[in-house]
Amino acid sequence: MTTLQTPAEAEEFVGKVLTDSSAWLATTLAMIGDRLGLWEKLCDEPVTSVELAERSGINERYAREWLAAMSAHGYLTYDPATARFELPVAHRPALAEQGGPMFFGGVHQEMLGLVTVIDQLIDAFRNGGGVPLSAYGPNFWQGLTRFTAGGFDHQLLQHWLPAMPDVEAALERGCAVADIGCGQGRALVRLARAFPASHYVGYDLYEPSLEAARAHAAESLVDDRVRFERLDASAGLPNSYDLITAFDVVHDAVNPRGLLQRIRQALKPNGRFVCLDINSSPHLTENAGPVGTFLYGFSVLFCMPVSLADHGEGLGTCGFNEPAARELSAEAGFTEVRIVPQDDPFHTLYEIR
Ligand SMILES: C[S@@+](CC[C@H](N)C(=O)[O-])C[C@H]1O[C@@H](n2cnc3c(N)ncnc32)[C@H](O)[C@@H]1O
Repeated sequence: MTTLQTPAEAEEFVGKVLTDSSAWLATTLAMIGDRLGLWEKLCDEPVTSVELAERSGINERYAREWLAAMSAHGYLTYDPATARFELPVAHRPALAEQGGPMFFGGVHQEMLGLVTVIDQLIDAFRNGGGVPLSAYGPNFWQGLTRFTAGGFDHQLLQHWLPAMPDVEAALERGCAVADIGCGQGRALVRLARAFPASHYVGYDLYEPSLEAARAHAAESLVDDRVRFERLDASAGLPNSYDLITAFDVVHDAVNPRGLLQRIRQALKPNGRFVCLDINSSPHLTENAGPVGTFLYGFSVLFCMPVSLADHGEGLGTCGFNEPAARELSAEAGFTEVRIVPQDDPFHTLYEIR
């Protein structure tokens, strides 16, 4: 039997649990603000609940309660003299600057999508198996795309490619590119706009994401050089490519070893595999804290169950860390794995040959 904690320790811990529970509620309310465009409205000037309701076309009673909660949590400040609420300038990049490098709205939307599979997940805890990709629904996929677009819009051309000069030169000259697990196609469309001499194909398992990717390519006027096809890349790729990319895919894969092998087989001589995956440690104790909780949380709720749903390896979010990436790449027949220097603390970028 475990010994009882002293009341002081128990009290301190219950305080942490209260803080965390409040944070879950704040995140849910932040997501509602994102959906209704309330954060943008709060950037204009400090507002009363009546003003926010009028400007956003929402019910005043809901506006008042939402504003009260967001100020109680410290996302907003409140001036009792004027009854106005303000979104401090320093809070805007995280909450209001859509598409910015610090924006969290996509993560909040993605989290909403995660909780909708909770009953299937609990069943998997009891009986094994997992939760298929198709169970997650539009909030998850749209949130994911808005989240990962931050890297593609602010890092890919600006920082990642300049740190891989051979890859950048090949794109500039014109080469064949395949993006594995392309999702809604943001990375490939960005590349196609920047490097029009190359041609691009995106492969994914999930048809609704591919439809969104095709629409995005057409809107961006790059559909003459980018196409998107449904394909399980671990069963083999139909052509050979100078450049293959996979952004946040390998750790989710049903068969990561097979996937890496197929990628290697599909690379032309001197071709490159550019792989973005999670920056984590193989040692559990080194993944502690908020970032580790975030990674393992996403792992339990998405990355691991989508792999286990198909009797997969279930690496989990932290399972394709640097030593694993080196081991699995060598097993697939690659001879060189270079870590590309970049700033994103959540990810490691690999240039693999
Ligand atoms: C976390 S999402 C990342 C999507 C996109 N790369 C991004 O960064 O927004 C992982 C994607 O990989 C796809 N995927 C996983 N295994 C795959 C496979 N064997 N073949 C093709 N796509 C796969 C999933 O359908 C999902 O869209």
